[in-house]
Parts: sequence; structure tokens; C-alpha cells
Amino acid sequence: MVGKMRGRRWRLGGPSRAVGDPGRGYPGWFVAVEGGDGVGKSTQITALAKWLRGRGFEVVTTREPGGTPLGVEVRDLVLHAREHQLGARAEALLFAADRADHMESVVRPALERGAIVLTDRHVDSSVAYQSGGRGLDAADVVALSAFATEGVRPDLVVLLDLDPAVARARREERTGVPDKLEAEAGDFHARVRSTFLARAKQDPERYLVLDADQGPQILTGAIQDRLDQVLPPSAAEAEAAARREAELAAAIAKEREFQAAKAAEEAEARAGAEAEERKRREEELAERQAAEQERTRKAAEDRAAREAAEHEAQAQAQADEAERTETQKREAERREQERRVQTQQDALRRREAELTVRQAEARAKERARLAAAAAKAAQEQARRQPSLADDLMQLGHAEADEEAADGPDAEGEQP
Ligand code: TYD
Repeated sequence: MVGKMRGRRWRLGGPSRAVGDPGRGYPGWFVAVEGGDGVGKSTQITALAKWLRGRGFEVVTTREPGGTPLGVEVRDLVLHAREHQLGARAEALLFAADRADHMESVVRPALERGAIVLTDRHVDSSVAYQSGGRGLDAADVVALSAFATEGVRPDLVVLLDLDPAVARARREERTGVPDKLEAEAGDFHARVRSTFLARAKQDPERYLVLDADQGPQILTGAIQDRLDQVLPPSAAEAEAAARREAELAAAIAKEREFQAAKAAEEAEARAGAEAEERKRREEELAERQAAEQERTRKAAEDRAAREAAEHEAQAQAQADEAERTETQKREAERREQERRVQTQQDALRRREAELTVRQAEARAKERARLAAAAAKAAQEQARRQPSLADDLMQLGHAEADEEAADGPDAEGEQP
């Protein structure tokens, strides 16, 4: 509810609150409580003021007539002057004069400040009493009021409707001394009532008509419901709402932050777990590959070892074979050698035997030659000396016999 007055924007409940209806011309909110005498208007105003102040609004409670010093006098004049009987028009003009003063000195300044003004009676009372009751032309009374108010009218009119007879009984219970208007006849009050209702019917948006024959708290609750629909929040409420919004926004931001951190943490944990799992799989694969390589290597090694062993066995067999061959060869050579040695020895022995034979033969020959020579010499000798020749001859024969007895091998010596 923001109004523009004298070039300024206003907010209800103070300058910190942006609310309102720029077309109304002021930032405050104007509520009139209307109804016949004794319907309980002041009770509702007191209760509403308390409630609105509790919500943080600036509230001005006032009344017509009597909201200003002039109003007090007008009130006195109109309601209590006994010596001079006022005509309906004068009465209407006095109420209008009071309204003009009231608007100028109390209501308008409060509305311009952004306050909520709760007034006990306003234009509708003039129309109900001076037109409905006194019989003045309604349009004249409305025009007179419009003149007094400069067109400012209540944003909400709460009409507490009550049977005038019931209202009268209440009044009499309360004060016992009726004012001039209260003292009017029952049909006067019936017209007042119907005029109020007729006006309310014409503009239901702006009126709240309540059956005043109910408990005051019920009435207050109904008025509060209506005001809740039309009033903007007070500055305090707006601040509290802004605070709550800020707190909520902070809480949401905090929650988002927390969720983001949590999500990041979870993502990190997930990534960590995945990395861990990947690492584990890689390690497992590497282990399997290493094991496979080890098996392959071991198999190759075993194969190589087997092949080496086979080679070695073969080589050993070959070596054994070669050795056997060599041994056989050496054996053959040895035997050949032995055979050659044997042969050589045989040959040697034969040669020795031959030599021995030849020597024996040679010796025999020599001895024979010697014997022959000796015989010859002996013969020679004998020819020259016969005895000696005999001796020598004999000697020669003896040696020849000996020789024959010994044989060639028994000799063995060089002659
Ligand atoms: P009210 O405000 O009820 O005063 P209280 O309860 O203290 O006596 O009464 C004021 C009387 O003035 C009431 O009977 C209605 C009358 N009245 C009019 O006739 N015309 C008006 O314009 C207004 C404001 C009041």
C-alpha cells in the first residue's frame, strides 16, 4: 500500500515498508467502524487497535464527533444542547464541520504518516442519521461529507448491524442516559439501520457487515480475517518476514552447500573407491600376467633344463661312446703295440737266436778253422816234427769232440 502525497511515496507502518495503492493518495489505511448506538463499536476498535499495534503498526484510534477539541464541542452542541433545537441541516453541517476538522487535524496526517486510522463513525453515520433518520437528501449529505473530507473515504467500513431494540437495551444497561439521537424513536433507528445496510449493499468490496448480536471476540476475529486479506504486512512484520526469508535463504544455501559438499565428498569417495578398485584389478591383472609370465618362464626354463639335460645326456653318451671308442682304440693300439713289441721281441729273439746260431756257427767255423789251422799247423809241424804233429793232431781232435759235445748254444762266448 504505497501512496503518493505531495510528490513522495509512502509506506504503511513507516518508510521501510513498500506497500499500497498509489491511487489512494496516502500510504496509511483508513478503517471506519459503523453501526447504530450501542452495537459495540468502541469495544471492537479497542480490540483491533491492540491487535494491530501488536503486529507492529502505528494505529490511531479516533471518533466522530469528538476526535478533536472542536469535535468535542460539536458533540456537545449536537448531542446534548437542550436549550436550542437544531434543525437537521444545521446538525448535518455541524457533523460535517467536525469531520472536516477531524480529517484535517487527525485523520489525514495519520494516513500520510502511514498509520492505520480506526475511526468510530464517519460518513456513513451522516448518511444513516441525517438522511435515513432525519430525512435529508442522501446525495446532499454525501456531497457535504465529500466536501469535508476532500474525497478521502474509508478503505474499509465495518458495519456492526444490530436490531435497534437490542441495541437500546444494551445502551440502557450501560449508561442509562440517552443522548438526543439515542433518544429518537424506534422507527428513526430502524431507518438508520436500513440506510447503513443499503449503503453496504451498494459497495460490498469496501464493507464488512457483521451481525453484532454475537460475542465481541467473534466479531473481532471476523474483522481481523478481513483486515488480514487487505492489509499489507507492517514494517516489523516485513522485517521479520525478510529476516525469516534471509534465514531461510541462508538455511537453504547452507543446506545446498552441505549437499554439494556431501555430493563432492561422495563423488570423491566414489572416485577413490573406483580408483582403488581399478588399482586392485590392475594389480590383480598384473599379478595374473606376472604369474602367467612366471609359469611361461618356468615352463621355458623346465623345457630348457630338460633339453639341456637331454643334450648333456646325449653329450655324455657321445662322450662315453667316444671314450669307449678311444679306450677301444687305445686298447687296440696297446695291443698293436704289444703285438709290435712282441713281434719286435720275437724278431729280436730270432735275430738273437740267429745271431747266437751264427755266432755259434762262426765260433764253430772259427774253431773249425782254428782246428783246421791247428791241424794244418800240426800237420805242418808233424811233417816237420812227427811226435809234435801227433800231439797237435790229437789236440785238434779233442777240441773237435768237445765242440760237438757242447753244441752251438752252449758256447755263448766269443772265441
Ligand atoms: P456515539 O459516537 O455513539 O457517541 P456515544 O456513544 O459516546 O454517545 O454517538 C454519536 C451520535 O451522533 C450518534 O447517535 C450518531 C450521531 N451522529 C450523527 O447523527 N451523524 C454523524 O455524522 C455522526 C458522526 C454521528
